[in-house]
Amino acid sequence: MELLKGIKERRSIRRYKSDKVSKETIEKIIDNARYAPSWKNSQTARYTIITDEKVKADIAENATMNFSKNMNNINSAPVLVVLSTVDKISGYNPDGTAATPMGGHWQSFDAGIACEAFCLSAYEYGLGTLIMGIFNEDKVKEIADIPDSERVSALIALGYPDESPRAPKRKEISEISKFI
Ligand SMILES: Cc1cc2nc3c(=O)[nH]c(=O)nc-3n(C[C@H](O)[C@H](O)[C@H](O)COP(=O)(O)O)c2cc1C
Repeated sequence: MELLKGIKERRSIRRYKSDKVSKETIEKIIDNARYAPSWKNSQTARYTIITDEKVKADIAENATMNFSKNMNNINSAPVLVVLSTVDKISGYNPDGTAATPMGGHWQSFDAGIACEAFCLSAYEYGLGTLIMGIFNEDKVKEIADIPDSERVSALIALGYPDESPRAPKRKEISEISKFI
């Protein structure tokens, strides 16, 4: 039941309190998130935790492709997480060839699962999150010192919520499913 509550009640949070999030709490969230399933248990998700205000502001200003909403989202949150994935492991054979016709799809798929596990874990500790897909990958990599061997999968704002938004409307079950 608690699990279902988290799945349904977690919301994207775009306004945060200024309270800091302890390193211990962030490590607990990562501890939980690492139990997310992944391609052949390859565990390619990596978490770069940014609490340094200058670095965070640099990303907000220079890596959000002038999308001011994300600039504000990042500036509001006390923590910004860069979720990256080690490149060309998930969905690939050891010799570097794609293991399925889906190519690089599975790398993003694994990142998505890890991302949701991270966000749900954060919710469990009373924290809000916002997944952001609008960013300049090269700029994020440069500012957050992400190695060339990784791709940036998403940015995640993290902090104690200062708003309680309603759930945006969901499609009907009949619109999104079919039984054969
Ligand atoms: C892959 C992905 C990218 C997203 N990118 C952004 C973003 O760049 N900026 C933003 O404000 N919200 C972003 N969102 C949040 C969605 O708008 C949000 O999840 C959706 O409206 C449903 O709301 P909920 O998370 O409260 O259920 C993103 C969500 C996902 C999963």
